[in-house]
Amino acid sequence: MSPLRIAPSVLSADLGRLREQVAEAERGGADWLHVDVMDGRFVPNLTFGAPIIRALRAASKLPIDVHLMVVEPEQYIGPYADLGVNVFTFHPEATTHVQRQLAAVRERGMAAGLSLNPGTPIGHLEEVIDDVDLVLVMSVNPGYGGQRYISAATEKIRRVRRMLDQRGSKAALEVDGGITVETIRGAREAGADTFVAGTAVFGEADPAAAIQRLRNACATLV
Ligand code: DX5
Ligand code: ZN
Repeated sequence: MSPLRIAPSVLSADLGRLREQVAEAERGGADWLHVDVMDGRFVPNLTFGAPIIRALRAASKLPIDVHLMVVEPEQYIGPYADLGVNVFTFHPEATTHVQRQLAAVRERGMAAGLSLNPGTPIGHLEEVIDDVDLVLVMSVNPGYGGQRYISAATEKIRRVRRMLDQRGSKAALEVDGGITVETIRGAREAGADTFVAGTAVFGEADPAAAIQRLRNACATLV
C-alpha cells in the first residue's frame, strides 16, 4: 500500500493561534497543510486566501495543499505559485477549460489536483487523467468543516482507484470531509492515500495525538 498522508485542514484551526496550531500539527507528523479557499460563490461560505497562505508558508516547511472552492480558479494559479503553494486543486464545474487550467498549474510548478463533489461523476477525471497529479474525492458537499462523511464516497474512491491503476496514473488519491478515526479506515481500504482532517485534528485538545490516532486507525491494513 502507498504511504499514508494526513493533511490537517486549517479551516478548523484556531486562527488566532495559527502558528502554534501548525506547530502542533507538525509535531504530530502532519504531512501536508490543507487550505480551504472559498469565495462565497462556488460554495456558500467565504474563508481565506493569499494572506493566510503567506502566513502558513512563513510558519511551516510542510507542503501547502490548497483546495479552491471558487469560481474561475485560473485567477489564482499565478499568485499562489508565487506564494509557494505546492498542490493546487480545483473543481471541474468552476472553470470552462479544465484541461487548460490543469496544464497551467503544472507549468507553474505546482501539482495539479481535480476535486469531485459527491454528485460529480468520475468521468470528468477520465478525460484529463494524464493531466492530473491528485484526485480529491469529496466525502461531504464542500463549504463547511464538521460535516458527516457521506458513505457513498467509499465506493467512489474504489472506482477512482481502479481507474487510476488501469490507466497507469500515479496521481495521489485524497479524500476530504468527515474523516474521523471511524471513517478513515474504510476510505484507506478503498484506495485513498491522502486524508484531509479538520475537526478530527484541530477540534481535539491535542492535535498531535489526534493525527497519530488517525494513522493508528489504519495501522493493521496491508
Ligand atoms: C469542506 C472542506 C474540508 C473541511 C474538512 O468544504 O473542503 O477540507 O475542512 O473538515 P472536516 O474534516 O471537519 O470534515
Ligand atoms: Zn478541503
